[in-house]
Amino acid sequence: MDRRVVLVVLLSIVGLVGCEGEGASGDAPVEPYTSFFTPLPEAPIFPEANPYSDAKRDLGEFLFWDPILSGRMNVACATCHHPDHGWADGRSFSVGVDGTGLGPRRSGSLETPFHSPTVMNVAFTGLRETEPFPGFVSGGYFWDLRVNTLEAQAIDPIRSELEMRSSDFLEDEIMPEILSRLSLIPEYQDLFSAAFEGANPITEENIAAALATYQRTLVTVPTRFDRFLAGDESALTAAEVVGLNKFINGGCTNCHSGPMLADNIIDTARPVQTDKPAVRTPTMRNVELTAPYMHDGSRATLVNAIALYEDRGDLDVTLEDDDFGDIELFLRTLTDRNFPRQIPAYVPSQLPVGGDIL
Ligand code: HEC
Ligand code: HEC
Repeated sequence: MDRRVVLVVLLSIVGLVGCEGEGASGDAPVEPYTSFFTPLPEAPIFPEANPYSDAKRDLGEFLFWDPILSGRMNVACATCHHPDHGWADGRSFSVGVDGTGLGPRRSGSLETPFHSPTVMNVAFTGLRETEPFPGFVSGGYFWDLRVNTLEAQAIDPIRSELEMRSSDFLEDEIMPEILSRLSLIPEYQDLFSAAFEGANPITEENIAAALATYQRTLVTVPTRFDRFLAGDESALTAAEVVGLNKFINGGCTNCHSGPMLADNIIDTARPVQTDKPAVRTPTMRNVELTAPYMHDGSRATLVNAIALYEDRGDLDVTLEDDDFGDIELFLRTLTDRNFPRQIPAYVPSQLPVGGDIL
C-alpha cells in the first residue's frame, strides 16, 4: 500500500477511536492561556459621554435602591439585582410589581419573561481586549441585546409594566410621574444639582446617567483565576487546571472567552438550548453566585448548566459527563467573594430600602 494511504487509514482509525466516548482533554492547550482569556481591567471603564463623579455615583446608588422609581413605590432595581443573590435575584423569573420578599422567597404572580442577570461587572460587558481600547463603550445589554448602552438600559425597567411601572400608569405617564415625585424631595434636588449642571437637573437622561455610573462601580477584584493568568501557577490547584484545560479543549472558549469569558453575541443559527430562542453569551465571572442558569433559569445548578453541553457537536463542543465536575471546579475559581455589597441605610424618599423585600 502507498505510504500516504497507510497514513490516511491509520489517522482515520485514530480519529474514530479518539471520538468514541472521549470527552474534552485535560491536557494543557498548545496556545498560552492568555490567548483565550485576559484579566479584567483594574478599574471600571466609564464612557466619554458619561464620565465618573462621586456625586453621580452617590445619586445613582440612592436611585438604584429607592422604590420611588416604581409605579406603586414598592419595587426598586435592587429588588431583582441584590448583593445577597450575586446582584441578581436567585429566581428563574423575576417578580416585580405585585411581589413581596427577596430572591427565591419572593411571592407574587406576575413574572418577567426572562431570568435576571447579575449587574456585577456590567462596566465590562462586551469587552474583548486586555487593555481597554480608547473610546470603549460597554454593551449591548439584555439577553436579546436590545439596547446598546447602560444608559439606554436604565429606563427600560421603569417603563416595564411587569417590572416596575404597574398597570396604574401608562407607559408615557410613568417618567413624568417619577420626575415630579423626585422634584418634591429636597434631598434629591440637592443630589441632582451636585451631580449635574443646568437649572432643572431632575431629568430622565440624568436618572439614566446616575444609575449607569453607580452600576459601573460594581466590579469584582482579581480572582484566583486572574492571578493564575498573571503568571502565579500556584493560584489554581491541579484539578482546577484540568477543568480549565477541558473548558478550552472542549470548545467552550469558542464563545466564553476574553476578560468576561463571554463574547456577548447572539449566534442565531445555534441556540445553546435547542428548543428555545438563541440569546447572547453570558459571562462566566461569579457564575457560581447566580443560580439558576440560562435566560429562562431552567438549569437549577451550575453542574446542570454545564451538562447541557454533553455531546454537542452542533456547537463544536466535545463534553462527556466525566468532564462536568472538572469544569465546575474551574468555573468556581472565577468567583470574587469580596465583591461590593454595600446597602444604603436609607433612601431619600424614606420608603423601604430596596422595596418590599422583607
Ligand atoms: C422585577 C425585576 C427587575 C427589576 C425591578 C429591575 N430589573 Fe434589571 N433585569 C431584570 C431582568 C429579568 C433582566 C433581563 C431582561 C431581559 O434580558 O430582557 C434585567 C436586566 C438588567 C440589565 C442588563 C444586564 C445585562 O447583562 O444585560 C441591567 C443593567 C439591569 N437589569 C439594571 C436594572 C436597573 C438599573 C433597574 C432599575 C431601574 C432594574 N434593572 C430593575 C429584572 C429586573
Ligand atoms: C456557541 C456559543 C457557546 C459555546 C460553545 C458554549 N456556550 Fe455556554 N452559553 C452560551 C449561551 C448563548 C448561553 C445562554 C443560553 C441560554 O440562556 O439559553 C450560555 C450559557 C452558559 C452557562 C449558564 C450561564 C448563566 O449565567 O446562565 C454556563 C454555565 C455555560 N454556558 C457554560 C459553558 C460551557 C462549560 C461550555 C463548554 C462545554 C459552553 N458554555 C460552551 C454560549 C455558548
